[in-house]
Amino acid sequence: MAETIPDLRSVPKARAYAELKGHSDAVLEGIDDDVTAMATMAALVHHAFGHLWTGFYRVVVPGQLLRVGPYQGSLGCLDIVFGQGVCGTAAAEMKTVIVADVEKYPGHITCDARSRSEIVVPVIDQRGDLIAVLDVDSDRLDAFKAEDQQGLERLVSWFATKQ
Ligand code: SME
Repeated sequence: MAETIPDLRSVPKARAYAELKGHSDAVLEGIDDDVTAMATMAALVHHAFGHLWTGFYRVVVPGQLLRVGPYQGSLGCLDIVFGQGVCGTAAAEMKTVIVADVEKYPGHITCDARSRSEIVVPVIDQRGDLIAVLDVDSDRLDAFKAEDQQGLERLVSWFATKQ
């Protein structure tokens, strides 16, 4: 299989995410493996938009600890405690967090000093349990809006709806 990742940087966000979702679902057709899906989605989102860092932190101790999973970008921090940083907050509250300026977010965990803004989306499985968060970092301030939240939440809905 030789799949090309589309460059969606100049495509309106709603259309870009619709295209990515279609691409992701097509690549994952017949796959029932969360790590494979995480690796595929991280590669697609990262390269389609040219982000700084895109990847998953997996729940390794429910309610307590996240550990880095498949990602694209510079070296990620390995462990994040629930409630700490943007990822730990999104995990503890099971809701998406958008940070327009990481320097103004108390407790932000810096893995790459070039990061300026960030979005973290919870990943829920078929039972309704939190299994991971998807973290996307940009080197631009205020890079993430409601349409990114909608697009990314829809993308990771694969984990709750896979057959
Ligand atoms: N900034 C995140 C940590 C993960 S890295 O950005 C890859 C946070 O505050 O949770």
